Amino acid sequence: MPDEEANQLEILLTREQIYQRVAELGEKISKDYSGIEELIVVAVLRGSVYFAVDLSRRLSIPFSLDFIGISSYGATSYPLGIVRITKDLDINIVQKHVLLVEDIVDTGLTLNYLIKNLKTRNPKSLRVCSFLDLPGRRIVEVPVDYRGFEIPDLFVVGYGLDFQERYRNLEVVAALKKNRSGT
Ligand code: IMP
Ligand code: MG
Repeated sequence: MPDEEANQLEILLTREQIYQRVAELGEKISKDYSGIEELIVVAVLRGSVYFAVDLSRRLSIPFSLDFIGISSYGATSYPLGIVRITKDLDINIVQKHVLLVEDIVDTGLTLNYLIKNLKTRNPKSLRVCSFLDLPGRRIVEVPVDYRGFEIPDLFVVGYGLDFQERYRNLEVVAALKKNRSGT
């Protein structure tokens, strides 16, 4: 990465911290779901893919992996919290245990929409696992059953999280100080 870009990034979570926490989450989730027939792990495209893959490798229970693609119009656009499904699930989740895996819960608007949408399909259970939680910016209350890290009110990138599609492949999580406004 060129130097002028590195200057704008401040590391919040190291590779080791992330690795350790993901392992802990995998263990906890496996314990909580022990004995169930099958868990459907639903990763939200695209940000949560890196987390979902690593987390799934730490699960010792039987699971299927599926993806749901969304595009949100963001917290500043009107109407608030409108989310469009760009790729639906391939698996039928009726009467299945579902774990929704997100990269970050910020305003909560995206997750709120997804939970409502998935609940209409009558899963046996629905829980949420988010890699990051930014509770300071919540607009709607949403249940987060498993969280990797709580972070302060910053714009973060890496480990799947992007700024204009960049930085997803960083192995750390960093706060991004943007030169220009507008995310
Ligand atoms: P929401 O505000 O909780 O609806 O967050 C919606 C989505 O915005 C998240 O799933 C992320 O894809 C993205 N997002 C929110 N905060 C950040 C951030 O700090 N960095 C990168 N993406 C973010
Ligand atoms: Mg997202």
